[in-house]
Amino acid sequence: MPETTAPAPTPARAGSAPSRAPLFLRACRREEVERTPVWIMRQAGRYLPEYQALRARHDFLTSCRTPELACELTLQPVRRLGVDAAILFSDILIPLPGMGVPVEFRPAPVISRVVKGRAEVLALRTPDAREATPFVLDAVRLIRRELGGGVPLIGFAGAPFTMAAYLVEGGGSKSFAALKGLLYSDPATAHLLLERCAAVVASYLGEQVQAGAQAAMLFDTWAGILSPGDFRTFALPYARRVFEAVASLGPGPEGAPPRIYYGGETAGFLETCAEVGADVVGLDWRIGLDAARRRLGPGIALQGNLDPAVLLGPPALIRERTAAILREARLPEEGSGELEGPGSSPGHVFNLGHGILPATPADHAQVLVDAVRELSTRSAP
Ligand code: CP3
Repeated sequence: MPETTAPAPTPARAGSAPSRAPLFLRACRREEVERTPVWIMRQAGRYLPEYQALRARHDFLTSCRTPELACELTLQPVRRLGVDAAILFSDILIPLPGMGVPVEFRPAPVISRVVKGRAEVLALRTPDAREATPFVLDAVRLIRRELGGGVPLIGFAGAPFTMAAYLVEGGGSKSFAALKGLLYSDPATAHLLLERCAAVVASYLGEQVQAGAQAAMLFDTWAGILSPGDFRTFALPYARRVFEAVASLGPGPEGAPPRIYYGGETAGFLETCAEVGADVVGLDWRIGLDAARRRLGPGIALQGNLDPAVLLGPPALIRERTAAILREARLPEEGSGELEGPGSSPGHVFNLGHGILPATPADHAQVLVDAVRELSTRSAP
């Protein structure tokens, strides 16, 4: 076969009319794409000078709670880098005050009134997001107006398990002894806590979609501290419940919003993660995209998975590692060498494997975005 006539990958929905949806949404739906879309987890952040300039005048919580500021911070990386998706500027802990738990950012989150046992769980409120976090929904509406029909907006929340981890630990942790102590010594209370978190997150993420978010992402950053069995018991059912609630809202004017699940350090039980009911599974760099594809099959889109620390290296290395990931993302039937370059693959959204590091030079983020665009573009036959 001549090099330039690579076989067209089979669209996931054979027979459906070609969709005119934005590139990122088509990739999430495993439809044919002309190149691989790219965005960066934590793309609004301290590595951007314009972020630092705005944050010098407004603290983090004020920035999250003021729709005009959240909108500006959401748009900064879209303008500078030309990424293919915007993600709401907020934090996974923003729903906590509405549950009755104050949170501070220094800049790492600090929760001084932690959940210790049944009494604290019973005291947690489960408010509707329209009542507890109306500023987030106003931000979503404002950002959608500013973005117009082009770059789509991702809404997000913490997955119930990761939110519960913060509520019990009061912050990050090495051993998660307080959380695991609760899971193993008083599972009934742990399940009650997870149920309350799931109710809050379902409302919070569902309302973002109702307000105009075009994709819904759950961050389960701490899922990887669990054994496969405990993940199935304490994390999976609650994240699934949130995605079911989002799906029950129906398709909306632009089709069903893709559901994206990111679980940190979950390569050991990836197949179980895929049972969460997501359209897209986000991967960190601890597994190759080719191995993940072999294990999950073609029926789910993959997002990832460059180690964020690679962006601290030189541009040549960033391009090389980007090309390697694009090659790994090829579906098995495409991988027989007909394409000259790395090419694009349906069902792949390029991203880092975790949030961008504050020490990253902003032009290295640009090198990444440009490399994905260039290396994944199919040459015309
Ligand atoms: O991706 C984006 O650009 C949207 C913004 C976003 C933030 N937090 C802003 C933020 C998103 C998607 C998050 C998610 C989030 N928050 C997660 C899940 C993803 C992950 O990284 O695992 C987690 C675990 C949190 C909790 C959290 N918030 C931590 C651990 C920290 C401190 C980390 C740090 O950078 O120091 C925060 C604060 C936070 N959230 C900042 C930002 C931009 C830094 C605040 C500052 O600039 O002072």
